[in-house]
This record gives sequence, structure tokens and C-alpha cells, in this order.
Amino acid sequence: MSPKPAKEVTAMTTAGHVAIIMDGNGRWAKRRGMPRTFGHQAGVNALKRTVEAAPQLGIQWLTVFGFSTENWRRPASEVSELMGLLKAYVKTDLARLEREGVRVRIIGRREGLAPDILAIIEDAEARTAANDRFNLQVAFNYGGRADITDAATRFAEDLAAGRISRDEDPEIVFARYLSTAAGPSPDLIIRTSGEQRLSNFLLWEAAYAEFVFQDVLWPDYGPDALKAAVQEYLGRERRYGGVDADDVLAPG
Ligand code: FPP
Repeated sequence: MSPKPAKEVTAMTTAGHVAIIMDGNGRWAKRRGMPRTFGHQAGVNALKRTVEAAPQLGIQWLTVFGFSTENWRRPASEVSELMGLLKAYVKTDLARLEREGVRVRIIGRREGLAPDILAIIEDAEARTAANDRFNLQVAFNYGGRADITDAATRFAEDLAAGRISRDEDPEIVFARYLSTAAGPSPDLIIRTSGEQRLSNFLLWEAAYAEFVFQDVLWPDYGPDALKAAVQEYLGRERRYGGVDADDVLAPG
């Protein structure tokens, strides 16, 4: 099969939901002889550039992996830096996000987060609840297995209590229990820094996503890299378990 010609990224041809594993902050800092926290601080600036660029490329949903359930294993100083950066990001950018029609959602486990972080999360969600121009989901204290396990527990309770109709497709019902229930599944999952792993991100939701791995460290990320990833995505053939239309033989 000859390669398809590259499509130009426009608001009409883009990926609707892009999810990003923002990787490489530590290596970026190390190359500069700086502590890892310096890389995370630069990572926030990359996040701001990316959030600004995404709607301009027609993307409607952006989900980023800010802190995983496994990140608690990092040194306490780094954990507290990441908590502080979420707070600082929301504090400095919330008014702008609110003004620009961005709806903010934080996905992941709320248990285990400090009261000041919880308050910031709830405030960001409440203040942007009426927005619908663009959706930003920050996965924070998030793990795909934890999210599925938590959903399964609540699903089982509701099933046992007779609160779930057995007439509905159980996959559709189950997905409503995940912390990503408000949005569509990602069309494109990007991981930066050259690593090619899912690392417990969006395990259920990634079922039919396309993956693009980019050789750029997260603090260097921005509009051009995002556009390149979407361009690569547009060249993919998505079949959702079916076959390419060209491969179906006409009867007779
Ligand atoms: C991976 O880099 C990145 C993270 C663990 C967190 C991503 C965080 C940010 C971009 C900044 C904070 C933003 C929010 C919303 C909290 P790494 O440290 O694993 O890099 P390495 O693999 O090079 O060590």
C-alpha cells in the first residue's frame, strides 16, 4: 500500500482528544547540571504552551499526566515540588483558563491528597464548570489500574443493589464509573522523551487510541511538536477492529 499523502492539520481534520505523557523533565534538567525540580518547573511552561496551542489546532480535549499513583515513590522533596507546581499552575492560570472558555477537570484518586490541593482542585473545577470551548483534564494522583479498580468496586456495589439495568451494554455502563467518564476516549496518545510505554495511563480508554512517541524532552515541547504529532496521527488508518474499506471484496 502506498503511503497516504500528509494531511495538513486543520480544525476540521484534527484529533478530537489528545492525551500526553509528559516525560523527560528529569533528563532535561540533568543535561543542564540542574536538579530534577528545575525540569518540572520548565515542564509547567511547556504545559502552558501546549494548552494554548491545542485549541488552535482544533483539539477539543487534552488530557495530561501530571502525577501518577506510582509517583509517591519519588523522594519526598520531588513529590512536594510536583504538588506545589499544580497549585502554582492553577493559581496563576485559572483566571485565564476561565476567561478563555476552558473547562478544567482533575482525574484520579482524591484520597491521599492534602486538603489545600483538594481545595484548589475543587475551586478550578467549580469555576470552569460552565465552560465548553476546550476541555483540559489533568491526571493527578492517577493510575489506570487504580481507576479501573475503584470503578469496579462502585459498579459491583450498584449492581448488587439493583441500581444498574441489565438491559444496557455493560461496557457503556462500566465506563461511566471511570474518572474519565465526562469525555470521549483519546484518539491520540503522545509520549515524549523517546520512551515507548503506557505507564498505567488511561488503560481502559486507550483501547483504540493511536500512539505517537516523540524524541523531544517535555520541557522543550510546544506548538510545533504537537502539530507534528497530530500530523502523524492523521496519516494513520483507524479500523477499530474492522478491516480497511478497500480490503472488503464486493459480493458476486
Ligand atoms: C516526567 O518526567 C514528568 C512527571 C513525573 C510529571 C509531569 C509534570 C509536569 C510537566 C510539571 C507539573 C505539572 C503539573 C500539572 C503538576 P520525569 O521526571 O520522569 O523525567 P525523566 O524520565 O527524565 O526522569
